[in-house]
Formats: sequence, C-alpha cells, structure tokens
Amino acid sequence: VLIICATTLVAYLLGSIPSAVWYGQAFFGLDIRNYGSGNAGATNTFRVLGKRAGTIVMLLDVLKGYTAAILSTILWYADVITINEILTFKIVFGLVAVIGHLYPVFANFKGGKGVATLLGMMLATHPEMAAVCIGIFLLVVIASQYVSLGSILAALAFPVLLLLQIFGQKENPLLIVFGFIVFLLVVFTHQKNIGRLLRGEESRTILIRFRKK
Ligand code: G3P
Repeated sequence: VLIICATTLVAYLLGSIPSAVWYGQAFFGLDIRNYGSGNAGATNTFRVLGKRAGTIVMLLDVLKGYTAAILSTILWYADVITINEILTFKIVFGLVAVIGHLYPVFANFKGGKGVATLLGMMLATHPEMAAVCIGIFLLVVIASQYVSLGSILAALAFPVLLLLQIFGQKENPLLIVFGFIVFLLVVFTHQKNIGRLLRGEESRTILIRFRKK
C-alpha cells in the first residue's frame, strides 16, 4: 500500500511539471498564462510562442501522462501488483498526472486543460484507439481551425468508439467508463472554450504571437 501511495505521489508530481510555464519563463521570460487564451498548455504555447515551443511543450506533456501510466507496469515488474491490476493502475496514475497538470504544485496550482497529458495516458492504455483519436482531432482542427473543438470531439470519440468496438474485440468496461469520465473532465476544463465556440468568439488563428490576453 505504501509503495502504491508513493507511486501515486510521483504521478502527481510528474503531472505537475508545468512545461508550458517553465518553457515560457526560461526561453522568453514571460508567463504564458498572461498571454493568448491564458492556458498553460501546448495549444497556447503554439499560439503565443511558436511552432518549436508548442511542439516541445506538447511532447513533454504527452510524456508526463505516458510515463505516469507506465509506472503501473513498473509496479507489476516489481511484483507489487498483479497483471490483472495493470490497467486499473494505469488509469489511476494517468488520471492523477492529469490532475497534477490541471493543478500543478510547481505553478501555484494554475495549469493547463489536460488534453496532451490525457493523450499520453491513452497511448499507454490503448495505443490503437489513441491513434484513431489523434486522427479525429487533426481532421476537426484542420476543418474547423478550432483546437478546442478537436480536443472535445476526440475525447468523446475515445469512449464512444470503444463502446462500438470498432476494432472488433471486446473492450475493457473499466476503460470505457474511464473514457466517459475523461470526456466530462475535458468538457469541464473547456467550459470557457465551449462558451466562446457557442458565441462564435473562439480564436481560430493558431498563431497570434505574444498578444496579451
Ligand atoms: O488543449 C487545449 C485546447 O483544447 C484549447 O486550448 O489555449 O485554445 O484554450 P486553448
């Protein structure tokens, strides 16, 4: 139990690494949370600091979710949990990392919206479905120019496509339930975006470079 608690803490600390905030401070001397959409995530880094910064922050955020979920496999190797428990703990550690990303202890508990970190844990739990969701995300973003809409629809597609068993195999019910919870979480973190989308005020331009919010 102690090892599991310690690993949960590690997952939270991993998720708490505020890549967007630190990158902006280290290389541009600014706090990304005062610019663009005000979000400490890859999309806003892309928008405000450019492609290179956005890509690096995105990779780091995906890696946080992936690594946190993989801690579960490490516990299995170390004989702390059984093979049947791997998926459960992948979900637990991944979600804890996402909570760290949303409320990072290293950045005054004001983080991002969790999409890249969630993608990381999805890649670690169901890579094929994660790949399909990346495709859906890209299609929506290219067609609409709204990154937030892409995030929301891709998060919805994950549990729905699992439920529809598009790969012709029985999917784990726990993963489906988790997927719907994640979708609700994404809706929760995108409340302002949804409001702006409905009012037709969501930012379409990807790059607005250093525009104060
Ligand atoms: O991943 C976050 C994205 O869906 C929205 O970001 O900065 O446009 O609020 P942003």
